[in-house]
Amino acid sequence: MFLMEPSVCIFLFTCVLQLSHTWSVNNFLMTGPKAYLIYSSSVAAGAQSGIEECKYQFAWDRWNCPERALQLSSHGGLRSANRETAFVHAISSAGVMYTLTRNCSLGDFDNCGCDDSRNGQLGGQGWLWGGCSDNVGFGEAISKQFVDALETGQDARAAMNLHNNEAGRKAVKGTMKRTCKCHGVSGSCTTQTCWLQLPEFREVGAHLKEKYHAALKVDLLQGAGNSAAGRGAIADTFRSISTRELVHLEDSPDYCLENKTLGLLGTEGRECLRRGRALGRWERRSCRRLCGDCGLAVEERRAETVSSCNCKFHWCCAVRCEQCRRRVTKYFCSRADRPRGGTAHKPGRK
Ligand SMILES: *[C@@H]1O[C@H](CO)[C@@H](O)[C@H](O)[C@H]1NC(C)=O
Ligand SMILES: *[C@@H]1O[C@H](CO)[C@@H](O)[C@H](O)[C@H]1NC(C)=O
Repeated sequence: MFLMEPSVCIFLFTCVLQLSHTWSVNNFLMTGPKAYLIYSSSVAAGAQSGIEECKYQFAWDRWNCPERALQLSSHGGLRSANRETAFVHAISSAGVMYTLTRNCSLGDFDNCGCDDSRNGQLGGQGWLWGGCSDNVGFGEAISKQFVDALETGQDARAAMNLHNNEAGRKAVKGTMKRTCKCHGVSGSCTTQTCWLQLPEFREVGAHLKEKYHAALKVDLLQGAGNSAAGRGAIADTFRSISTRELVHLEDSPDYCLENKTLGLLGTEGRECLRRGRALGRWERRSCRRLCGDCGLAVEERRAETVSSCNCKFHWCCAVRCEQCRRRVTKYFCSRADRPRGGTAHKPGRK
């Protein structure tokens, strides 16, 4: 559904498909196009899961991971270098590494299996490495080959993207969980063997969302990549920042407002959440964030839903249900009818 014109490399997996025609043998750990074919469906599935996670994590933010934001490469169109771009790179890169690693553990690839390199060694107080650890080393190496290859430039943007790709991979590694099994007389657990497992991908997404809020802005002069000295300065700057952190070069635009040039829809018409369901703090404040703080009113829309309910089983053999009507109230941002004086929107927090 995301496929655009084949000649434009917009989303990571269309980039991947496109690269298959131009890929050279040397780019590979293994042997060229054959290796490419083995991993490409997994890479594409991983990029897709990164995009889905982005949409989940930003569902109640002013910027909600719109398709336009997902162009990852230098091919085609406008490239931004803000905090949101940073997140898109990190989550896509994480998705690809995660999926390759999971595929490996499931035995989907002939040349890869559990990471048992440390098995038998002492891991810590009272436990030994053992069992089947997810092979993140494999996922990391292969995903790097695919995702980082999309950055061909030598400017600050390319350096930023590579840094954030790495941050995504670090997030996968950093959220892995130690799982242990007890040994000893009747489960006395005198010794344990432990292995490392991937978390749910949701956890990687949540971790990167925190990194997004804490992203660091790097100040680099325009055109710094045009000379050898400038490229050196870029490399030094990025090297001084931990690859666990997301970095960006530009400030974000005002996502309250529609801006066709930037492909932004603004928040008018967006749904937000109020009471009712068990909402987290971030969701509970969504109406203020999306509507109120953007100078928009919250419009209540009531609707009725009809569904089957109170179903009873009659001997034998029929099920009879009643039709229940349920009122649902939804909230949307809309342009205020009577703008109140002086309460224009405040830019600032996203
Ligand atoms: C890897 O996993 C993804 C998602 O779980 C799946 O769609 C894909 O087919 C798998 N790849 C291989 C080579 O089995
Ligand atoms: C859209 O964004 C661009 C770049 O930030 C800006 O120059 C332009 O004024 C904006 N347009 C509108 C209609 O806000």
